[in-house]
Amino acid sequence: MPLAPSPTLLVTGGAGYIGSHTLIELIQAGYRPIVLDNFSNGSAHALKRVESLTGHALEVIEGDIRDAALLDTVFHQTKAHGAPIQGVVHFAGLKAVGESVAAPLDYYQTNVAGTLTLLQAMDQAQVHTIVFSSSATVYGIPREQPYTEMHPIAPINPYGQTKAMVEQVLRDWCATLPARRAICLRYFNPIGAHPSGMLGEAPQGIPNNLFPFITQVAVGKRSHLNIFGNDYPTVDGTGVRDYIHVLDLAVGHVKALEHARGTTGGFAAVNLGTGRGTSVLELLNTFSAISGRKIPYEFQPRRPGDIAECWADPSTAEALLGWKATRTLEDMCADGWRWQSRNPNGYED
Ligand SMILES: NC(=O)c1ccc[n+]([C@@H]2O[C@H](COP(=O)([O-])OP(=O)(O)OC[C@H]3O[C@@H](n4cnc5c(N)ncnc54)[C@H](O)[C@@H]3O)[C@@H](O)[C@H]2O)c1
Repeated sequence: MPLAPSPTLLVTGGAGYIGSHTLIELIQAGYRPIVLDNFSNGSAHALKRVESLTGHALEVIEGDIRDAALLDTVFHQTKAHGAPIQGVVHFAGLKAVGESVAAPLDYYQTNVAGTLTLLQAMDQAQVHTIVFSSSATVYGIPREQPYTEMHPIAPINPYGQTKAMVEQVLRDWCATLPARRAICLRYFNPIGAHPSGMLGEAPQGIPNNLFPFITQVAVGKRSHLNIFGNDYPTVDGTGVRDYIHVLDLAVGHVKALEHARGTTGGFAAVNLGTGRGTSVLELLNTFSAISGRKIPYEFQPRRPGDIAECWADPSTAEALLGWKATRTLEDMCADGWRWQSRNPNGYED
């Protein structure tokens, strides 16, 4: 019996942090991903490393999700070559909360208008399946913990608004044709790296997120960590978040695709988190113990808009997708440290 051909997927933003790790899991699960990325925050080196880790030559298109003509060409050409795109995994977007407050139009343009352009191209090509990178930021101020998917959607910054708006678009898009399938994965706080030490998070400039800041202090690129707030009503006064290993997140995408391809249609929004909250100091202490590096820190006042604590109820992901995070905080720290210590300047080495 000949082997079934690998289903072709379009992976937007595949050269970024989460996208590059997900490519590995997709390839290992038997998919043929085509990467579309404008490299505004992604790295061609990351894609090369995905190739060497998987032994699979990637098809890469440098381009923008807002380029309707390019998208039409991509969908059309794959069809003409007999391997039509069967689904889209949509990572491409802007992701810095502070920047979204300063430049909201850029965020609405890329995240919302870009997704509309993508969906229109999918409609033209009759591609009905999308997995979308949403975020726990859609929930806004927590009314209770943990967040379930039933928690009200009330984002408090433009970045979160763009994710909530796209979710609504996808809900409406699915409602108009039964065959359409959209799964919005609401990520909590992805950290860590591929255990090979070859792939990881490589922020440009000063990291916006806590974990890459810690690893950059550990490797000597930054002098100390500022911890914003030590008077929250939490276990030790510092903020609590649900950190999730980026590879667990990557596996979640494969499970979401399997689920989408096995259903007749419809919309779903699903939390991807561990269900466990970790404070800044707990993360710091775990990282220090594993890396053997002391991380100097200073407490600073709380930042406006930050919440005290949040973590996921991940039970929908388990019930619907058969997915559960399996990697520990120690795994996240060990893998993140291996990446940072071997690549102190990210992919620039
Ligand atoms: N990292 C997180 O903490 C986090 C949490 C929740 C949700 N998300 C979402 O997950 C997705 C991936 O996040 P990430 O951390 O990998 O970010 P990233 O910046 O590393 O990856 C995004 C990729 O999209 C590309 N891109 C940006 N705009 C584009 C455009 N207009 N056209 C084509 N490509 C474009 C970038 O070059 C980059 O390679 C984003 O949508 C983000 O909002 C991330």
